[in-house]
Formats: sequence, structure tokens, C-alpha cells
Amino acid sequence: MTTSIFFAHLTDTHINVPGKNPLFEMDMTKKLRETFAELGRLSQKPAFVVISGDLTQDGDTEDYRHLRMLLDEEKEKLGVPVYVALGNHDTRSFFREGYLREEPSEESYYYTVMEGGLRLIVLNTQVPGKHAGELDEEQLKWLREELETPAPNGTIIVHHHPVVPTLTPLMDSHLLDNPQDLAAAIAGSDVIGMLSGHIHCNNIGLFQGVPSAAATGVAFGIEPTSNDSMKFVDNSGYNLVLVKKGQMVVHPMAMAGDHKVVFEWKMDAAHAHA
Ligand SMILES: [Fe+2]
Ligand SMILES: [Fe+2]
Repeated sequence: MTTSIFFAHLTDTHINVPGKNPLFEMDMTKKLRETFAELGRLSQKPAFVVISGDLTQDGDTEDYRHLRMLLDEEKEKLGVPVYVALGNHDTRSFFREGYLREEPSEESYYYTVMEGGLRLIVLNTQVPGKHAGELDEEQLKWLREELETPAPNGTIIVHHHPVVPTLTPLMDSHLLDNPQDLAAAIAGSDVIGMLSGHIHCNNIGLFQGVPSAAATGVAFGIEPTSNDSMKFVDNSGYNLVLVKKGQMVVHPMAMAGDHKVVFEWKMDAAHAHA
């Protein structure tokens, strides 16, 4: 007999130490705190929170220390665990030093957790020094081995760079570089859903028949239809994710915001850096 479980999927928090290099004059610490406050006001409490990368904007040790302090406070208030993945804005060694409080190292960061019979596999699609995302063979081998044994309520994979097509070639250029390897690794497994971020807009589709949802950012959104510029929008959101009867169901949630374009990055001038 399987049980239902629901949790919150946040992404792209782009946190910096307050006052340091504020992105478009927006206060990301405030946005993250407001998102957790909203989770606390829900009629049902999510079982856990997972954040799918771009945890910080600059990826310095002090940014990770600040993020760890914030998340420790917010998870204490909410009373649930918080799991994190790395994105292209993150740096492995400073994350290990500032967030995990370990010796700094370039070791990749991926792992499995079990929550109420649901297996959450958090991958690392971030490649040091690169904007693009990729899964290396070592991680894919680990993933295939993890998936050999099914979990009671199935598996959800969390990863930064998305895998389903988007509205524009520009946005498509931000997808995972080797989706075919991920597709092969999950073929025939108990994976019931995939959750990602990076493109800062809701984008939901099927990946090899598996529901796959990118969430908009906690820090900001990106207008999804422009192919020659990236329009950064002052909004914020997250997804509530329900696992019930062997299915993953996603409820996109929008936070209050003025939805103004705060910056437009013309693509002929530079590469985008979502
Ligand atoms: Fe991002
Ligand atoms: Fe990203």
C-alpha cells in the first residue's frame, strides 16, 4: 500500500550576502524568507523542501555561510528538512566549505534521500566553470546503480538544467547537454518525475514518458517567449509537488510581485547567464 506525500520544490534562489553585488537591486534574502513564510501559511505542511540549484549568485564561501544560516533558521521555523542541489552559479569547493562546513574540494555533490517511501535523487548537472549542464559518466553509473532497486513510492530526480523542450531556441540552448544519457539511465526504472530549474520559468512536459517540471525562480523569473533577449522579471514562485497513486502532480505557485521587466539582456551583445 503506497501513501501520498507532498513537498515544496524551490529553485534558483541566487542568494548573496546582503548588500554584496545585488542583482537588479532585488533583495534575494527577503524573497527566500517570504517564500518560506508562505510555505508556513499553507493549510498542509510540506514534508520537505528541495532547492534545485543556483543557490547563490556569486558562489563565494561567505554567500554559502549566509545561505546556510538562512536555511537553518527557516527550516527550524517550518519544521521540515531542506535538501539542495548545485546549479551553474554554484561553486563546489566554496559550497562545501561555506554550506556543508567541510574541507573545500571540487568533489561533485549528488545523493539520495528517502522521505515517506519516496526516493529523492539529487543530481549535480553543474560543471565547474561552465554555464552549460552535463552529467558525467561517474555520476550516471552511480545513478544506474541506485535505480536498480525500486523504492516503495517511486523516485523523483532533482537536477538544475532542464530536459524538456521550451518555447524558443534560445531557451532550448540552456537545457542539459546530454539528455540521452539521463534517458538511458532512467529507462525501465521507478522514476515517476523530474524537477529542475535554471530557465526561471515554469516548463512542464514529458521526458521519455516521465513528467518533468522546471519551476520559476525564487529570485526572479525570465519571460519565456523572447528568442533574441532575456527579459528578467521581478516575480517569484515555487512548485508544490504531490506524489499520489504512483504519479507526480505539480502545482505551480506564484508569489506576489510587480512582474516588471527589471533587465533585458540582448543576445547579440552577450551570451545569456540565467
Ligand atoms: Fe538561475
Ligand atoms: Fe542556472
